[in-house]
Amino acid sequence: MKRRNLIAGAAAALVFGQLAGCARVDRTETGSITAPDRSAAGQAQPAASPSARALRSAASNRGLYFGAAIQSAALGDSRFRSNVVRDCSIITPEWAMKWDSLAPGRAYNFSEMDQLASFAARNGLAMRGHTLLWHKSLPRWAAAALASSRDWTLIEDHFSKVIGRYGNQVREWDVVNEPIEPEHGGNGLRQNQFYKAFGESYIQRAFETARARAPRARLVINEYGLEYNSSYEGQRRLTLLRLLERLRSRGVPVDTVGLQAHLDLRKGKVYADGIYGLMRDIGNMGLKVAITELDVAEANTGLSIERRDSLVADETRRYLDIVLQFNNVLGVSTWGLNDSHSWLRTQRSAANRGLPYDRDWRAKPMHGAILTAFA
Ligand code: G3I
Repeated sequence: MKRRNLIAGAAAALVFGQLAGCARVDRTETGSITAPDRSAAGQAQPAASPSARALRSAASNRGLYFGAAIQSAALGDSRFRSNVVRDCSIITPEWAMKWDSLAPGRAYNFSEMDQLASFAARNGLAMRGHTLLWHKSLPRWAAAALASSRDWTLIEDHFSKVIGRYGNQVREWDVVNEPIEPEHGGNGLRQNQFYKAFGESYIQRAFETARARAPRARLVINEYGLEYNSSYEGQRRLTLLRLLERLRSRGVPVDTVGLQAHLDLRKGKVYADGIYGLMRDIGNMGLKVAITELDVAEANTGLSIERRDSLVADETRRYLDIVLQFNNVLGVSTWGLNDSHSWLRTQRSAANRGLPYDRDWRAKPMHGAILTAFA
């Protein structure tokens, strides 16, 4: 192991005892979602790329689920719907369930999210609840109210509305999204609006508030920036582990860690030792793992398509080969299925090819890499 990793590993060991093999969990516990009965759904049409094997069935054979983030705006496209239904057993609302989408002003408007939820229900798809608390999706009116009143009932009311309406379809709630930011100093937690109003206790209160309303769902802390060999991402890994240890020691009902897995070829290859150590230490705490937002940001879109797709596929395979060694992984969701829907097209390059299918629904090498990783 590299010296840096030894430090991280040793520090992690100091935080929570001996490093051992991760908790072996029977595959049946990994929450694989059985393939829904599509004959009854009456919604499935032949997918646009019948040659490519369905991702959800490959995942299911491994005792995992496969899912993707879905933009409700795309539901009008029958090819989109048929490929989602073919490949996914669970979907994540990419935007529609966020607080600032549901209630940009104080009044809630559930119509867009209801549309997505009924698509899921008609097609036997479960949902991921994304996301209850995130500093980037807190509506201005709620941020102002929190800052002035520090009144937790505002958050309780939001949770009651969202979990009350969609809870029977949601298997996993991203209760707290992206609470880590080592650059904010202190205990490495992000000094977001919730932290400023309630201190670190907002995380515990959020999980307890969610558990009271969602007694059977998995409750997830969801984080990014944990995959590469840099001091910053090493600090993020350690900060996350220390936070999880504190939450577990207090009996906080967090049972799953969401690893967003936004891979980035500009950062080099994924850091196998760092990811392995993180997975091992999460497993040692008896926690499950969900890969929640997998995609790949390209470094150089000037290369040939073949070369670009190969680099994306290789990075995907490298990452999944590490995390899927562990039996506490519930499943994998990509942050979209088709390149034309990727957030990376606005965040990195309009040409980015970091998802399983191209804009014409042709399965790319990344699709094959995921199938191979599931094999
Ligand atoms: O749909 C509305 C449109 O009606 C309105 O006119 C327009 C006005 O700005 O906004 C549109 O909504 C946009 C939405 O995406 C749907 O396209 C929002 O502005 C835009 O902020 C939103 O961006 C999303 C972002 O999270 C913020 O919520 C991205 O699609 C989504 O990919 C991104 O996803 C995040 C995860 O939730 C957390 N992890 C990181 C990931 C990438 O940033």
